[in-house]
Amino acid sequence: MSPSFYHVIHVFSMAALVGYSFYAFALPAPETKKRVMMVTGIASLAMLIAGFGLISKMGYSFSAGWIWVKVACWIGLSMLPGMAYRRRERAGLFIVIALVLVLIAIAMVYFKPF
Ligand code: HEM
Repeated sequence: MSPSFYHVIHVFSMAALVGYSFYAFALPAPETKKRVMMVTGIASLAMLIAGFGLISKMGYSFSAGWIWVKVACWIGLSMLPGMAYRRRERAGLFIVIALVLVLIAIAMVYFKPF
């Protein structure tokens, strides 16, 4: 499969993960939990698989530091939807954390500082 295919899956999954996470931050109602956890779980996995697909298709090294910074951001972002339902009063903080993680992960792609 072409690198473009992995790019599309990677960015689309990111949009789905972030979109549903913000939905959970805004309305962490128990009746939405199952669906949100399912969608964010699938999106998170697809994003990781596409990320590793990109690493291999584009010839990057798995030992590059910027990739592991992105993996750390991915772990943090993937944990947030579950936390949104457990700690509803922290929604404002979770929004800031999600935005910062996305910013760092995107900056890593374009600056690749290490
Ligand atoms: C919070 C998590 C992440 C966000 C927000 C994110 C976002 C992005 C964005 C916006 C791009 C640019 C796509 C394009 O130019 O078409 C990208 C590319 C990429 N991402 Fe991620 N990503 C995340 C996590 C990951 C993870 C976990 C991996 C590795 C397993 C990964 C590996 C890559 C690679 C290899 C590229 C291609 C870089 C290049 O084109 O030079 N990303 N990511």
